[in-house]
Amino acid sequence: MPKNRKYTVASFFSGCGGFDYGFDKNNFSILFGNDLWGDAASTFKVNYPKVLFFEKPIQEITPQELKKIVQNIKINVLIGGPPCQCFTRLNNNHLIKLSELKKEDERRTLFHEYIKKVKLLKPKIVLMENVKDLLARRNQRGKLYTEIISKAFKKIGYETYYKVISMEKYGVPQKRKRVIFLATNVKKLIKKLDENQNIGFPKESENIISAGEALSSIGHKEKLQNHTFTRNEPETLIKIKHIPPGGYYEHLPEKLKTKKIRNGKEVIVKRYGSYFRRLHPNQPSTTITNNYIIHPTEDRYLSNREKAILHSFPKDYKFFGMDGSVSQQIANAVPPMFSEKMARKVRMLLDTYC
Ligand SMILES: C[S@@+](CC[C@H](N)C(=O)[O-])C[C@H]1O[C@@H](n2cnc3c(N)ncnc32)[C@H](O)[C@@H]1O
Repeated sequence: MPKNRKYTVASFFSGCGGFDYGFDKNNFSILFGNDLWGDAASTFKVNYPKVLFFEKPIQEITPQELKKIVQNIKINVLIGGPPCQCFTRLNNNHLIKLSELKKEDERRTLFHEYIKKVKLLKPKIVLMENVKDLLARRNQRGKLYTEIISKAFKKIGYETYYKVISMEKYGVPQKRKRVIFLATNVKKLIKKLDENQNIGFPKESENIISAGEALSSIGHKEKLQNHTFTRNEPETLIKIKHIPPGGYYEHLPEKLKTKKIRNGKEVIVKRYGSYFRRLHPNQPSTTITNNYIIHPTEDRYLSNREKAILHSFPKDYKFFGMDGSVSQQIANAVPPMFSEKMARKVRMLLDTYC
């Protein structure tokens, strides 16, 4: 079997480069990345300085531009995480609900823009990451998005497979469910995946890493980029101190919960499970979002570096932007530990079937 063949990969919706990380580590040559968000683009460029980057909306990258970059090089793999398909960001400022779009507009959604690039570049393998909720969503005519996706790929000669990935089962110290679509136009691989689609995805592991274990890799006083702590108001600090490991807002004594007046009476406001959440040191982190998360054993919120560690980014991965922006970039990313395992699997599929 051929070993260490040089394969090429290109990415769209690259964000800070979490998905790309695994491919870079597995010796794929990344031809280009793309994102319209300046901070994410800067993060990408600083971590992958040799990779060309299209810092603009995917729909503005023309076939001529792509052909000029790619020339005679064959792109083997395309990776991307179009933002949730229930919404589509057609330009910087406007989120449009997909259900409000007319049929002809639907073709201009980000997912369809991604498909257009697949049609043009004809990679052997395409990966697409999205939130797990996508699996249950339907368009305004009641059609499941999974069907819309596989039909659109089929139209250009690709078969699609998907798997729900629980990131904590892939060495990521975080509970996070995402769906990964794998599409291919290679007959031999399609035959194998039709027999058993699991061969297309990395194996789960029994070795679950806890938040406490992951965070112990950095010292409190260690000088690291993005490892600064928010200074909390005394009232916030009192609340933080009341939350037990693994607990959240609901664990606060009633006197510390938020109140509002309803029908002339004071009532306690209910909050969702990630509000004032403190991690449990012996369990994987809850899903990293752009919200504040309380440290498992210290009375403070996590720093962005700690969030990045819980997302399995290496300690020296650089991030560009203000705190809120960095936090969002991390929350958006494919965890690098998973992308490494997925890239290794893709290399095996290319070596064996393509
Ligand atoms: C879920 S994030 C991708 C994260 C990335 N896969 C990673 O692992 O770090 C989606 C990205 O799509 C970008 N995006 C949104 N609309 C876009 C568009 N029209 N063209 C290109 N990128 C876009 C967002 O700025 C965001 O960074």
